[in-house]
Amino acid sequence: MSIARTAASVERPWWEPGVIYQIYPRSFQDTNEDGVGDLEGIRRRLDHIAQLGVDAIWLSPIFPSPMADFGYDVSDYCGVDPLFGDMAAFDRLLGDVHARGLKLLLDFVPNHTSTRHPWFVESSASRDSPKRDWYFWREGAADGGPPNNWTSDMGGSAWAYDAATGQYFLHTFLKEQADLNWRNPAVRAAMTEVLNFWFDRGVDGFRIDVLWHCIKAQGLPDNPLNPHFLPERGEKFRVLQQHSANQPEIHELAHAFRAIADAYGDRLLVGEICLPVDQLMAYYGGADAPGVHLPFNFQLFDAPWDARIISHIIEDYEAALPEGGWPNWVLGSHDAPRIAGRLGEAQARVAAVLLLTLRGTPTLYQGDELGIGRVAITADQVRDPQDLRQPGLGLGRDGARTPMAWDASPHAGFSTCEPWLPLHADWKTRNVADQGADPRSMLALYRDLLALRRREPALAFGDIRIMSSSEQVLQYERRYGDTQLIVALNFSASPSDVSLQDGDGDELLLSTHGPHGFEGQLRPDEAVILTRTSR
Ligand code: GLC
Repeated sequence: MSIARTAASVERPWWEPGVIYQIYPRSFQDTNEDGVGDLEGIRRRLDHIAQLGVDAIWLSPIFPSPMADFGYDVSDYCGVDPLFGDMAAFDRLLGDVHARGLKLLLDFVPNHTSTRHPWFVESSASRDSPKRDWYFWREGAADGGPPNNWTSDMGGSAWAYDAATGQYFLHTFLKEQADLNWRNPAVRAAMTEVLNFWFDRGVDGFRIDVLWHCIKAQGLPDNPLNPHFLPERGEKFRVLQQHSANQPEIHELAHAFRAIADAYGDRLLVGEICLPVDQLMAYYGGADAPGVHLPFNFQLFDAPWDARIISHIIEDYEAALPEGGWPNWVLGSHDAPRIAGRLGEAQARVAAVLLLTLRGTPTLYQGDELGIGRVAITADQVRDPQDLRQPGLGLGRDGARTPMAWDASPHAGFSTCEPWLPLHADWKTRNVADQGADPRSMLALYRDLLALRRREPALAFGDIRIMSSSEQVLQYERRYGDTQLIVALNFSASPSDVSLQDGDGDELLLSTHGPHGFEGQLRPDEAVILTRTSR
């Protein structure tokens, strides 16, 4: 039951105690009156980020894109889409971010390009194009259908037919997103230049999009059918992605990315990898061939909200970490349902305490610090291509991508005109200005938690040990040197009779319910952090 990891006293890279804040640029702040956020908007809102107390900002893609998948279909890796601004706006933002002592991460999308990227345009021009092999072009099957049975994550076959050259090309996502052939050294060389371009400009690292997809099995064999396929979960699950993802050679590629980053010093690579924990761990790489610094740990996205289950998740994850592997936890993203929508506001507060007191680098997603809940998106408001292609399955991601609410002025201060997606219904009170003035708000809780994390090395670096867990209450300690912090979380709306205080030596550092009234037992939906003085 106990897990203990020793916090080394050596100097740590910035991202170990750091907290990452994800910005979805379309929805942060609009300054050019088009209802879509932009880089200048982010720059003008840096006060919010600094006051919140995070360390790094990760921007979802800002590169030129036809926006079929809202920027994850890149048509130029070394530019800025005019919707978001220009390179001068980027440099201004980066300069201001650094001036505040913050870091900036970009989103590197290596698995696929837009079909409007000049590389793909050239590749599709003819069968003997010098760039033909930059992508996956194949003859149809004997019956004229797709070359194999791979399905797109966005629904339908993963192959699109190109009438001009009479062959199919592979797209793991939309047909506007063609998969690159990473076994081709020319692709690697071109993408190395991309990474160097941004590192030279001063960015502090990258989140790497769908890293585990980048290498496909030689020969592109059919995937096994999924015996447990449920159509309502989406066509992506019709087959098991045995040959189309997570190939052994991916680790060599992750290591190559890491070597590029390491050549610049203190840079960070975070990998988006959606795999079970045992397979996820391989993305840390080995001592002689390190992979990404942080393979994203998404387990809190869909874990049943039960103290015992979360306790096992923490223990199993910690136990699985390779020597020297630094943990990380993610609570929300532009792809996942809002945490407050899933758990309700009271438990979303408990979840905030969990995220910011677990061992490892937390990533929090814009708007979760306001507790934005489920946003109703009507059929005519749907923008997400995943939802448009497979309607009615509840796969839509628009609900997590709605604009930030800054104040009670029209359009919540996000824009002077109608935003591209609707605001949450309660934006007039659920906004940064209102919550910033209310010490009981979700925003105040996040600020308090982040300030405490900064003050208490035990939260940033300390060992973690689960002390107890029942269905209702999870209790763990964070220990660093002589400091022992106790975190106790009530996952239910009933009071708990577990007595937490251990004599006079305990001091309440933080409670989701405010500084007063805690008497040693958790109230409904309460999470606390105590400090225990060793006697
Ligand atoms: C990642 C992104 C998601 C995108 C997909 C394809 O999962 O987070 O938004 O649709 O990759 O690039």
